[in-house]
Amino acid sequence: PVRYIGNRSSGKMGFAIAEAAAARGAEVTLVAGPVSLPTPPGVTRVDVETAAEMFAAVMRHRADKDISVLAAAVADYTIAEPAAEKIKKDASGEDGLSLALLRTRDILATLGRERQAGVLVGFALETENDRENATRKLREKSADMIVLNNPRVDGSGFGSDSNVATLFFADGREESLTRMSKRALADIILDRAAAALQPAS
Ligand code: CTP
Repeated sequence: PVRYIGNRSSGKMGFAIAEAAAARGAEVTLVAGPVSLPTPPGVTRVDVETAAEMFAAVMRHRADKDISVLAAAVADYTIAEPAAEKIKKDASGEDGLSLALLRTRDILATLGRERQAGVLVGFALETENDRENATRKLREKSADMIVLNNPRVDGSGFGSDSNVATLFFADGREESLTRMSKRALADIILDRAAAALQPAS
């Protein structure tokens, strides 16, 4: 009930996308992890705490979505047996503490496998081999687009209001973007996702 394992993330990118989509008049459901950000106007927010709760909430709300954007830094591992009470440091002895961890389920890959209509956008946060990892995630998770970013690039760090991203598309196209606010990047992501939704004319 006190300590947890998670990934570093402010949630700002996901909230910027929800805000941008609602500003365009879309009906938006925002499944939010434990972040302290205000709900953007016009957005329906579903708060979750764990990766399992996020998985369940996304599955419950996935029907009839034109565009699904998975921007959360979901933990890949979860505690096998969560403690009922606060774990005291004295319980572990002097040397350290071992915890049994289990893999969480991959939400994006599950949506990709069970492909319904609509455009599926994922993120990739990489510190090395970024292009290879991003294109592998695009393929393995059956996404239409992956937004790659590297927290070590200037203007891209955790909690930053700006981002430097490269977009990778399922048809092999690639688009490198300059540094911009997360809100501006949100609009570009939505423009590209909306274009993928339209049949080519
Ligand atoms: N993702 C997800 N469910 C998970 C883990 C990740 O839906 N349990 C999604 C993220 O929201 C993101 C994409 O998968 O859109 C890639 O996440 P990332 O953490 O970069 O990659 P992983 O697949 O977890 O791989 P690795 O940690 O090995 O880089």
